[in-house]
Amino acid sequence: MDAIVYTSETGHTKAYAEILGNKTSIPVFEIKEAKRKLPKDAKIIYMGWLFASSIKGYKKAAKRYAVSAVVGVGLCPTGEMMREVRQAISLPESTPLFTMQGGMDHAKLRGINRFMINMLVKMLSKKERTPEEDAMLSLIKRGGYFVDEKNTEAFIKWYEDTTSDKM
Ligand SMILES: Cc1cc2nc3c(=O)[nH]c(=O)nc-3n(C[C@H](O)[C@H](O)[C@H](O)COP(=O)(O)O)c2cc1C
Repeated sequence: MDAIVYTSETGHTKAYAEILGNKTSIPVFEIKEAKRKLPKDAKIIYMGWLFASSIKGYKKAAKRYAVSAVVGVGLCPTGEMMREVRQAISLPESTPLFTMQGGMDHAKLRGINRFMINMLVKMLSKKERTPEEDAMLSLIKRGGYFVDEKNTEAFIKWYEDTTSDKM
């Protein structure tokens, strides 16, 4: 594996990228830095934040690099939203996908993202909600920081299994 490449708006994905970099010893690059430092077709793990069920920056990363696994960092609990996300980014079944719970930092949200989250709160507040939507609405409103090493366990297991296969 050549690198972990990530996109982060308010820092949660960056924090997970650093945790995974430390645990695996794979170099970590923010996506713009990666463009300068990594060759095209480098073998990477791509990490981005969840945005309306898709993963920010994935499409661009997949055009340029050989993506071996994808991590989506969102507000949803770790390990959830997998089917929706895979569908939203048309990720092949053969590429492993992980979701990790990041958080919601209202103070760091700017511009269009702040606007969109406010719209989502308004929309969800008005409608009849499923239990999942209800949980999501209160998480969005409350905000919080949920980055935790234990949310990386499934990824680390996958990584150790794939690397030990090659020995
Ligand atoms: C406009 C917008 C849309 C979002 N859509 C989703 C979503 O579909 N699913 C989810 O779990 N989280 C969603 N989130 C929450 C972010 O993915 C979450 O705050 C994440 O931790 C941000 O990562 P970052 O700090 O690396 O930017 C959304 C946030 C914003 C601002």
